[in-house]
Amino acid sequence: MLDIAFVKGAPPKSGVLVLPLAEGAALAGPAAALDKSLTGAIKRAIAAAEFTGKKHQKATLLAPSATVKRVLLIGAGKPDALTPRAAEELGGEIAATLGHDGEATIIADGLDPADAAHLAFGARLRAYRFDKYRTTQKDDEKAKLAKLTLHVADAAKATAAYARLAAIAEGVELTRDLVTEPANVLFPASFAERAEELKKLGVKVEVFDKKDLEKLGFGSLLSVSWGSAREPRMVVMQWFGASGTQTAEGKKTKKPKDPIAFIGKGVTFDTGGISIKPAAGMEDMKWDMAGAGTVVGLMAALAGRRAPVDAVGLIGLVENMPSGTAVRPGDVVKSYSGQTIEILNTDAEGRLVLADVLYYAQERFAPRYMIDLATLTGAIIVGLGHENAGLFSNDDELAAKLIAAGQSTGEHVWRMPLAPPGESYDKNLNSPIADVQNIGGGRAGGSITAAQFLQRFVNGKPWAHLDIAGMAWASKDSSTTPKGATAFGVRLLDKLVQDNFEG
Ligand code: BES
Ligand code: MN
Ligand code: ZN
Repeated sequence: MLDIAFVKGAPPKSGVLVLPLAEGAALAGPAAALDKSLTGAIKRAIAAAEFTGKKHQKATLLAPSATVKRVLLIGAGKPDALTPRAAEELGGEIAATLGHDGEATIIADGLDPADAAHLAFGARLRAYRFDKYRTTQKDDEKAKLAKLTLHVADAAKATAAYARLAAIAEGVELTRDLVTEPANVLFPASFAERAEELKKLGVKVEVFDKKDLEKLGFGSLLSVSWGSAREPRMVVMQWFGASGTQTAEGKKTKKPKDPIAFIGKGVTFDTGGISIKPAAGMEDMKWDMAGAGTVVGLMAALAGRRAPVDAVGLIGLVENMPSGTAVRPGDVVKSYSGQTIEILNTDAEGRLVLADVLYYAQERFAPRYMIDLATLTGAIIVGLGHENAGLFSNDDELAAKLIAAGQSTGEHVWRMPLAPPGESYDKNLNSPIADVQNIGGGRAGGSITAAQFLQRFVNGKPWAHLDIAGMAWASKDSSTTPKGATAFGVRLLDKLVQDNFEG
């Protein structure tokens, strides 16, 4: 974790210094003082490098004094275009550039303290690493940025703004850790144990094991786990930030009031089951639990920043394996909703997990809104690539709120069609022998078919489904996300809550 501190006063005259400069901005205040102490070297470098402050522009001064190792000038773009998100992206770029330095100081006095906090947040997100399984990496190969000090005009204000963001960063880091873990380490039972750690933050956590799920009648979710030696789990997390009845030990609770419910697909490994997947790329299916990982990270973020909202998180955890006990194509199971499902393809398993958890969530909590996250279909990657998650909703207001939260956080969602029950796309799911079948319509509109299936289990309640199959894992670095697990959805849904459902 990147350690962040905000201070006021003259910048140090040693070490690695970073100076963000907006287009057309003159050196002022501490930056001007630093330049003076370096006998005008910064001004000369700006001229020599034709540095204008444009976004992504960089110039480096090496050893400009006996004690200053480097000064990195970095373009902050047009001064009035510096949104909180743009500040995060700038921070991410700084962290990537400093990768091999242990620590550095950023001269951010020119920024609004809130923007400085967002810059630090972006740097921290980009500096994320997962190296617990590396034992032979040499010191000089390691990324080692550990501490950033930001010089700001108002340290108290920046520190306060950052405290909230640090809780969100912790949620993002938790999600990335969970999603990155291999499936031999993270399976339903061990995942549930990790979720139980949220009790420390004041979240009430209940774990349902196989017996509990059998008693409830979760026939759909359970069928996915039949082939696996790992027993399934469901975890229910409750945060009472608005009704305020929660104790740190998770005791003395009443029902959350009009909560927002977040539901996650947690397939800890998806082989496809008897409808087995091809070998190439199957290792990616360790991150088929990213929806659930995001729900856990989001609950950690909300609790960590003591968000004044009632929220519940529910995750269905299973492993999808082929074996002599596995569910077969053609099998019929009974879901928690009472509807029977004909399973025609055992690789369309995420929807089978969510069907039971969604129905349970609406029945138990009567949530104001339900939002599920799932790496549900390869088809959404064909349709939207890696720039937008697919958004499906039966509620225009909720859809608009999600799109707005996506625009401000940079976690974009794109609305896709969803037909009312009984119409159009929905009809492909009618089974000849059961109430519903788990695939239909062939390859055409595969992500929509999946969403239509889920809709049959939301009981008409206001709901949105985010298909994050194209967003959960990145094959290359980007501004605030190193390649690997992205934790897509934590910042998006935190922002959704913050802008619409608090207080
Ligand atoms: N977990 C996969 C979807 C997926 C694919 C996520 C690639 C991330 C990357 C899901 O369970 C699945 O296998 N879906 C099938 C559905 C099909 C059988 C109707 C798919 O997309 O091929
Ligand atoms: Mn599958
Ligand atoms: Zn899957």
